[in-house]
Amino acid sequence: MSARNRWIMVGGFAWMVGCGTTTPENRPPAPAQPQPPASAAPAPAPPPASPAKATLFERLGGEPAVSAVVDAFLKNVATDKRINGRFINTDLARLRTLLIQFVSSATGAKVEYTGRNMQVTHAGLQIVDEEFDALVGDLVAALVKLNVPEAEKAELLGALGPLKAQVVSPPPVAETKHDPALAKQAEEIAAKLRAEGQGSLADVLETAVKARVRGQRTYAEQLFSAVEQQLPDGRLDTIALLFREGAPERITSALIQMPKDSAPQPKLAVGASDDEEKPQKPSRASLTGTLTADGGGGLLGVVTLDRVGGKSAARKPKKRIIEQRDRQFAPRLLAIPVGSTVVFPNFDPVYHNVFSVSPAKSFDLGIFKNGEAREVTFGKEGLIRLGCNLHSNMLAHVVVVASAHYVVTSPKGEFTFKNLPPGEYTARAWGENSSEPVSRTVTIHAGQNTWNVAVPRGSATSLGTDKFGVSRGDSGP
Ligand code: HEM
Repeated sequence: MSARNRWIMVGGFAWMVGCGTTTPENRPPAPAQPQPPASAAPAPAPPPASPAKATLFERLGGEPAVSAVVDAFLKNVATDKRINGRFINTDLARLRTLLIQFVSSATGAKVEYTGRNMQVTHAGLQIVDEEFDALVGDLVAALVKLNVPEAEKAELLGALGPLKAQVVSPPPVAETKHDPALAKQAEEIAAKLRAEGQGSLADVLETAVKARVRGQRTYAEQLFSAVEQQLPDGRLDTIALLFREGAPERITSALIQMPKDSAPQPKLAVGASDDEEKPQKPSRASLTGTLTADGGGGLLGVVTLDRVGGKSAARKPKKRIIEQRDRQFAPRLLAIPVGSTVVFPNFDPVYHNVFSVSPAKSFDLGIFKNGEAREVTFGKEGLIRLGCNLHSNMLAHVVVVASAHYVVTSPKGEFTFKNLPPGEYTARAWGENSSEPVSRTVTIHAGQNTWNVAVPRGSATSLGTDKFGVSRGDSGP
């Protein structure tokens, strides 16, 4: 697939993948090993070494055979209308590599799987049994076609079957509620598209309606957006509500074209009042400290200071960037003064859908391709959690501050204010994974001061909600 984003099925479909590093949690299941019978008696002397039994990977035929199975499987999925819409926004070559690694490792090869864990990968996709069974059917057909013997076939399916619990997560029944008249209208538009010779668009729209009726709202809206991109003439406007009701305000401002060679943004945290405006007077006082989670280590977060009873000039609004690169937001924490604007460029070969359902600023940026951006102005103080509606592993925060003094911490929680007028301040601190900010009164004396603060620990594994407010569960053990 080219480096450009495309929504229309290419050879049936294109897969969508993410990236990540291997951790103990995202490794495929270890292949089953024969277990000795349990016994309280002393262990007998080990028998003389015998040649180790060949692994399933070896019995299948090693790397060439696993690659052939994956290729035949992907070919089947590409033409399987029950599930090929799932992979419309995908880097096929990348998924192929990850699947080969995954199957090799699960069948006993010493191969590193470099993708994300099964739970995070499939969280929020709201996959139902029917889709899981369709995918397994496509795999079985591939194994049959390649004449894989019964024993090996059963063993491979047996290794993958237990992953179902991490893959299947049907939507809540309440999400199936919809206006049947709008669904009928959408089906009629699909039939018309088919009659006009636009069969592949009709397929995607029909799949969108089916997903919507099943309550898979995020998937349905993704497919609807794909069709809408191909038909920008407004003929789908009357059915948009079927897919978008209940989503945050949609931002449809003109797309901004970004320079192709835009340098990557810092990955972690950006924003400090000290760095943004040169001090008027020499420093009279400074404050250093560490932000930690209750009973735990340092946190990436934000600390703000407001003079008690005094006046401090508010900071000027800024223009900042949070990019989508390598299927992550960068930076993942941004502190900005009220009134600032953030540009959200996409530098990935796949689409993203940036959104927030936070009360301080809820919005839906829709989808846009590599090299394009939309921007948002944050007019109200508050904490905003950002997600991507297509990739549940992507998470970032914008902290909009009305305080004259603010700073982001290092990943270890360290922070410094270099130049403060001495006096009494209300200090507030919030960290990633902290359930809520804490507020304390702090007295700053002339010279150096220290303030260490612990915030309540929140859930480190929650994947938040999709843009319809439906929980995506958590990232697993
Ligand atoms: C045992 C069954 C399954 C296994 C072993 C499996 C394995 C994988 C792997 C290794 C990846 C790449 C991970 C990554 O992007 O880092 C992936 C991605 C994906 N899988 Fe599955 N999968 C299974 C079932 C399913 C089913 C039933 C569906 C839906 C019909 C599905 C839909 C997807 C999608 C849409 C992606 C791309 C997700 C993204 O890029 O965010 N998978 N899967």
